[in-house]
Amino acid sequence: MQSTRPKIPMSPLWPSLPQPPVVGAERGQTWRIPSEARCVALWDRFDMPEHIRAHSRKVAQVACQVAEAGLKMGLPVCVDTVRASALLHDLAKIYCIRHGGNHSQLGGAWAMALTGNPLLAQGVIHHVYWPFEVDLRRFFTPLTVLYGDKRVAHDQIVPIEQRFGDLVERYGKTPEIRERIHSTNRQAKDIEDAFGRLLEKDLNAHDFNRGRLVD
Ligand SMILES: [Fe+2]
Repeated sequence: MQSTRPKIPMSPLWPSLPQPPVVGAERGQTWRIPSEARCVALWDRFDMPEHIRAHSRKVAQVACQVAEAGLKMGLPVCVDTVRASALLHDLAKIYCIRHGGNHSQLGGAWAMALTGNPLLAQGVIHHVYWPFEVDLRRFFTPLTVLYGDKRVAHDQIVPIEQRFGDLVERYGKTPEIRERIHSTNRQAKDIEDAFGRLLEKDLNAHDFNRGRLVD
């Protein structure tokens, strides 16, 4: 008897997407980097709602300006990787809102499976909290994505304090949750200060809307 079950694609994580990835080099290796159009196709594939797309575009705007400033300082950073990582950092958000789970961990796993680029995936998996030493020379790319996320509340670029004030108000229901939010806030400020020292710029004073961080 013939089965009436729908055919399951061999690899559901590999949709046919427009535009082949560009190639970039960082950390002495060459990785494939999805173009912006490819990232948008992945948003479509994973059903990303418009407000998360708008948020992700702003995070990419901040992260890319920080990356360009790093490049100008002679750091070996690939701006295309930073852009793709920032655009994909919330790829698993809507799935986890609907079904539960940790959106950065799941998103990082998806990003690795979809792109084969571990540096890009590192930016996704650690965009909420950085569990290692804040060593910008070693971890410039993932920390730009984390920093970009900490400067965007919904789809607005704001100072870190404003974003965390909003988080405490919305999610700070217990002392434990409030303490977790405060500790993430302190780490975000430390990372901002470290970027400021390295790039010789006051990042807190920059709104990332009027032109570029690089003069
Ligand atoms: Fe985000």
